Amino acid sequence: MTLDTATKAGLEDVVVATSSICYLDGRRGVLAYRGYDIHDLAEHATFEEVCYLLWHGRLPNRAELGELQSQLVTSRRLPEGVLRLLRSLPPSNAMDALRTVVSALSHFDSGANDMSPVGRYRTSVAMTAQLGSVVAISARIAAGGGVIDPDPALSHAANFLYMLTGKRPSQLEARALDVALVLHADHEFNASTFAARVCAATLTDVHSAMVAAIGALKGPLHGGANADVMNLLLGVGQDATDEKIEETIRARLGRKEKIPGFGHRVYRTEDPRATHLRRMSEELCRRTGNLRWFEISQKIEQVVKAQKNLNANVDFYSATTYYALGIPVDVFTPVFAVSRISGWTAHVLEQYANNRLIRPRAEYTGPQYPQTYIPLDRR
Ligand SMILES: CC(C)(COP(=O)(O)OP(=O)(O)OC[C@H]1O[C@@H](n2cnc3c(N)ncnc32)[C@H](O)[C@@H]1OP(=O)(O)O)[C@@H](O)C(=O)NCCC(=O)NCCS
Repeated sequence: MTLDTATKAGLEDVVVATSSICYLDGRRGVLAYRGYDIHDLAEHATFEEVCYLLWHGRLPNRAELGELQSQLVTSRRLPEGVLRLLRSLPPSNAMDALRTVVSALSHFDSGANDMSPVGRYRTSVAMTAQLGSVVAISARIAAGGGVIDPDPALSHAANFLYMLTGKRPSQLEARALDVALVLHADHEFNASTFAARVCAATLTDVHSAMVAAIGALKGPLHGGANADVMNLLLGVGQDATDEKIEETIRARLGRKEKIPGFGHRVYRTEDPRATHLRRMSEELCRRTGNLRWFEISQKIEQVVKAQKNLNANVDFYSATTYYALGIPVDVFTPVFAVSRISGWTAHVLEQYANNRLIRPRAEYTGPQYPQTYIPLDRR
């Protein structure tokens, strides 16, 4: 039997399934959820509206949005056993803690293995709400702070900042994170979403698919890049001159190192999400009275463009946006997950609804068949 060979490494440009959730045109720099352009959504929609849009395929009316908001609010509180587990974990990478605790959540959810459409949807909503709480509480425990109870009067974004920092955010801060969550919510068949779909296609439960996605997101080529960007900026230092910044970037490129926050598998233009994050980063840095991280970012962007003709991606300006919001660097990638779980769950719901096991083939390149088996004492 002859097999079709995907000639491009990393499945570049290989279309592996149909999906009605996310439209991406890398040549024109277009991103749309269910047909709605990301620029319109970033300007007008809330994260909760986007969740509804991704899960149901259309925007909610006021009553539908209200119902979803109260379902999310109801699910924010974590079971006592999960809080105990969070407190018992040794200091570790925040994504490791998130992966472990999301897996543990299923033990405290009697409906976790309810694979009916209603059950899968209920789990998706609950996990989206819980993820924000897990990330905020885990960060507070890591910093030696007390756990803050969720505030039902706050939006998903505002409540997350409140549970993380212990301060009710200003309108600007809450909206900035809300927009960041809208921008990160879905991105077609990115690595973590694909991992989630592969998992779901075995008809395993939603929690298992989310754990797979979180594992994929952690990597520095995917969601891990936002923390790497901030560590790059901190390494360069606030007082660095333009010459020093240029020298640092050139040296890294000279060693063939990747600059985090640049390049993209799909976009050949500017990542449309970066346009909003750049603006937000500038505005938030200005409000904190320290524009320096934004200015350094701009200089790095200029050097990388000149040297490699690469554009900033979603992770580049989300770093300084989160930093200006007072989010600890270790928590940047978990914040990506707080948003992307809406897209992951939309994709697994789509997969379950029209499922076939995802089981591709490999082109074999190992030793020639057949090899003669040599008994152990003659090798
Ligand atoms: C996103 C990314 C993984 C896409 O990878 P990809 O499509 O497999 O592209 P490649 O890694 O094959 O890169 C193609 C070329 O661009 C270069 N390149 C890509 N991203 C680069 C970066 N961030 N810094 C420096 N060079 C980069 C590669 O070195 C390669 O150059 P070469 O052909 O001279 O060897 C890649 O751009 C990257 O690693 N970026 C940094 C991490 C990051 O920001 N990830 C978040 C993505 S949203």
